[in-house]
Amino acid sequence: MNIVPETAPFSREQRAWLNGFLAASLFDRLGSVAPASAPSGSPPVARPRPLWIGVGSQSGSASGLAKKVAKAAESKGFEVTLRELDRITPDELSGLERLLVVCSTWGDGEPPDNAAGFWSRLSDGAASRLESLRYSVLGLGDRNYADFCGAARRIDERLEALGARRVAPRAECDGGDRAPFTAWMEAVWPSLDRVEPEGAPPSVASPIPGPDPVPGSGPSAATPATACPWTRRHPYPARLRVARRLNGEGSSKDTRHIEIELGDSSLAYEAGDALGVQPSNDPALVEGILQALGLDPGVPVSLGPSVPGGSIDLGEALANRWVLTQPSPALVKRLAELAPGSLIASLSDPSRRPDLESWMAGRDVLDALRSAPEARLDATELGSLLRPLQPRLYSIASSPKAHPGEVHLTVGTVRYEAHGRSRLGVASCWLADRVVPGVTPVPVFVQVSRHFRPPSDPSRPMIMVGPGTGIAPFRAFLQERRATGATGKNWLFFGDQRRATDYLYSSELDPLHRDGFLTRLDLAFSRDQESKVYVQDRMREQSGALWQWLEEGAHFYVCGDARRMAKDVEAALRTVIQTAGGRTEEQASEYLESLRSEGRYQKDVY
Ligand SMILES: Cc1cc2nc3c(=O)[nH]c(=O)nc-3n(C[C@H](O)[C@H](O)[C@H](O)COP(=O)(O)OP(=O)(O)OC[C@H]3O[C@@H](n4cnc5c(N)ncnc54)[C@H](O)[C@@H]3O)c2cc1C
Ligand SMILES: Cc1cc2nc3c(=O)[nH]c(=O)nc-3n(C[C@H](O)[C@H](O)[C@H](O)COP(=O)(O)O)c2cc1C
Repeated sequence: MNIVPETAPFSREQRAWLNGFLAASLFDRLGSVAPASAPSGSPPVARPRPLWIGVGSQSGSASGLAKKVAKAAESKGFEVTLRELDRITPDELSGLERLLVVCSTWGDGEPPDNAAGFWSRLSDGAASRLESLRYSVLGLGDRNYADFCGAARRIDERLEALGARRVAPRAECDGGDRAPFTAWMEAVWPSLDRVEPEGAPPSVASPIPGPDPVPGSGPSAATPATACPWTRRHPYPARLRVARRLNGEGSSKDTRHIEIELGDSSLAYEAGDALGVQPSNDPALVEGILQALGLDPGVPVSLGPSVPGGSIDLGEALANRWVLTQPSPALVKRLAELAPGSLIASLSDPSRRPDLESWMAGRDVLDALRSAPEARLDATELGSLLRPLQPRLYSIASSPKAHPGEVHLTVGTVRYEAHGRSRLGVASCWLADRVVPGVTPVPVFVQVSRHFRPPSDPSRPMIMVGPGTGIAPFRAFLQERRATGATGKNWLFFGDQRRATDYLYSSELDPLHRDGFLTRLDLAFSRDQESKVYVQDRMREQSGALWQWLEEGAHFYVCGDARRMAKDVEAALRTVIQTAGGRTEEQASEYLESLRSEGRYQKDVY
């Protein structure tokens, strides 16, 4: 609540304090705030109402919401401190009265990089009790991931376990759905100051539910990447120019170098950003589903207000709007009801949940329909049971300074056999096989990655670990540093299966290495010798030099596989710090933490 005019002769801090004081007095009169315990008859005692907002955000969405929370809190008279979660020290935390946490989830249910240290301190058995803390948590996530909003949930539960009082239930935002955020904000303000009677039960741990997504309403919106009009919800129909195979004859991989023209879109990006691509489904899968249900592709289906006119043909909805490669739980449940004698019905018994989950793994909508052939669904009901098709993100492999008006990607195609049928990754195979260069529109938007950038100081060394498609952003970083004349040393660790066929971008990297711009290049081809060798092994071999670079202020980057590679690389980095740096295990953790908090350890993993 801004009571003191902006023009009043006070500093920002003084004005915030006065606003807080006046707002508290006003609320006191309205009876909604704990009264300041002043003896009756004495003038009201000024009670600053400090509120900390802790944010955990990888690509900026949670940061954006946290800023909105901060603005709203200030307008309500709170004295706001907005901090990255990692920058809240244990001492500060144990002294806090009010904390709002806004945190996304990354990797496989992990906290974002700027919340990892906070979580490790909070989850430590020795963490201090937080009895005087009142808090609430807002999570951001994506229901397509198994551990939806897992990081926010764990922080919420841990704060409660440490004795803090949850003043409003956790809210969880899925993709761009901001309804839970709005509901959470409404719930939080009145309760942050309310005094519960002794022994009142804490707020329940279950989250504030958002409304069900409108079936078929298309991909949800995220915070726009830039001020430009092309966003996740309104992607730019770009043209693909090149989808060249990077692997040689005989490779078991099919990785593509993709070039996309940005035309007159005014889409801008920086080295480190990702490109969102809204793909189309495999026409063979669309056809199979239409046949299995005996449906006409020309039947109109309603998609609600997101589509001009409200409806499109079923064939187009199946091609472009809905997820066909995984059956939704809602579809499985409905098929079980419609076909009680089917396998899917027997697996749907609650006691057989693990069996159902393992049956669903690797099966698609067509498999589900075929397993319950007597189930009939019309187009409208089918649409209500399928989830919206989400865009895929790709780390940008070019610098706009080297390739103005273009975006390059390094895309690994996903192809495998499962349950007797060959399966195709939706976006990667669409880009590689079905997009006709110069003809098929490719809907794209820029996903800004503020936390993944080359060093802002051009003289700093940078160490990049990017095996497989993880090379993509480092191609961009090298182009960027070359274009800007950055003088810092550059070291790349790259790996894949075989040098002869899988050394991606060798025709660019070798010359860069030869002319010394790429100061060091360490390669690990796992299948070129008896025992497997990976980038993390090369890191260990180079412990001394790696340690020296880190001590010279190098930034350390890793990109690619999150499940194994990024974890193994982090383990190798710890080993380097311990062996070459002569640190204990605990000191190595602190060293890593300080690299993170200085922005010198950045990850782009998926
Ligand atoms: C920030 C970010 C950056 C990224 N950058 C890149 C990049 O530079 N290059 C790149 O190639 N990708 C990148 N990705 C991954 C990319 O977004 C897609 O996830 C990937 O291309 C697969 O999408 P798809 O639609 O082709 O496959 P989907 O249709 O989504 O299928 C993939 C799924 O198929 C299943 N699957 C795959 N292989 C098998 C198997 N052998 N057996 C059983 N099931 C299997 C898995 O469930 C997997 O999740 C990035 C992701 C993120 C989040
Ligand atoms: C590589 C990757 C992994 C993710 N993992 C999860 C996850 O495990 N659980 C989840 O709920 N959301 C997950 N998400 C979704 C993000 O939490 C979601 O996009 C969120 O809005 C990002 O917020 P931020 O920009 O503040 O980091 C993941 C997203 C990406 C790109």
